[in-house]
Amino acid sequence: MPETMDAWVQNAYGPAAAIHRAERPTPVPSKGQVLLKVRAIALNAGDVRIMQGDPMLVRPVFGFARPRQPIRGMDVAGTVVALGPGADAVRVGDEVVVELPGGGGLAEYAVAPAARLVPRPSSVSPRDAACLPIAAGTARQALDAAGIAAGGRVLVIAASGGVGTFAVQLAASVGAEVHATCAARNAASIGRLGATTVLDRDQPLRELPAGSYDAVIDIAGTAPLRDLQRLIVDGGRVVLVSGQGGRVLGPVGRMLRAAVLSVGSRRRIRPLSAVAKPEMLRELLALVEAGTISPLIEAEYPFDEAGAALARVEAGHVVGKIVVHGV
Ligand SMILES: NC(=O)c1ccc[n+]([C@@H]2O[C@H](COP(=O)([O-])OP(=O)(O)OC[C@H]3O[C@@H](n4cnc5c(N)ncnc54)[C@H](OP(=O)(O)O)[C@@H]3O)[C@@H](O)[C@H]2O)c1
Repeated sequence: MPETMDAWVQNAYGPAAAIHRAERPTPVPSKGQVLLKVRAIALNAGDVRIMQGDPMLVRPVFGFARPRQPIRGMDVAGTVVALGPGADAVRVGDEVVVELPGGGGLAEYAVAPAARLVPRPSSVSPRDAACLPIAAGTARQALDAAGIAAGGRVLVIAASGGVGTFAVQLAASVGAEVHATCAARNAASIGRLGATTVLDRDQPLRELPAGSYDAVIDIAGTAPLRDLQRLIVDGGRVVLVSGQGGRVLGPVGRMLRAAVLSVGSRRRIRPLSAVAKPEMLRELLALVEAGTISPLIEAEYPFDEAGAALARVEAGHVVGKIVVHGV
């Protein structure tokens, strides 16, 4: 293994413009880890939040003064090239997909916990596989928390991003009736993913009839909670995937208000904190393999332009996923 590698790094919390290319020591897998040769990295809104250290609430977890892991990129498809002690369940040469804790993906090589690796089926490209862990995993966990089943009616708010495009497809794939909100320019794409009704993102939710849905998946985090709660039937669920808030505490205030509004109510509002679930990732890969779901990819960038890819996600309004190819 070469002693150094090519990577995109940040020395301080800040904008994508401050991310730069640098030579870094090739990481060495420790106990229970493997070393991957990175083949594709899909970016998420979460990469930008960690990059900026915003809200500040994330800093105790990711590093007080600067990110402890200076390389962004969490969703990765790669090839196992070395094993750390105790990583016996995988073999050198295995093609895998993984959510890296905190990042490390925008590099030639990355270390990954062996317990999180999922084999990549040969019919699913590294590009498509890398799109799944956080975006599709969060969408799946949100639908599960909402109890979405065949025949149920669900509203997906902010359907055009990474999580949203998978939420629409996954809900439609179990036979739910999917309504979605997005900008008018994206309505046709979201309809093709399986939404039967596409609402303009600027239409006030209070104009919709009360009790219209069995579940609401809120990925925008901006609508008043009472408006969301009003939209669901008795026994229905609102699942909060995102919550806008202040620079320090972010969505915490909104989560507390959701808890208060849910006390004694038959229309519960539940914040989601998605986690890496390798078994779920395996199922999502099988759905891609079967053609049931397919990542919507706005743009692909060569590794040389990974800084521009991060800037694209930072700018917002992404439709589906942004992917960076490995070196
Ligand atoms: N709870 C968790 O565990 C968890 C896990 C993953 C992600 N998240 C959060 O989920 C959110 C989405 O993540 P992502 O990676 O999917 O982001 P993304 O790909 O950047 O998606 C953003 C999308 O949301 C749309 N949007 C924003 N505000 C909207 C609104 N008010 N109405 C309709 N559409 C709106 C944007 O469309 P326009 O072009 O119309 O603006 C854009 O297409 C982020 O806030 C992220 O932090 C939470």
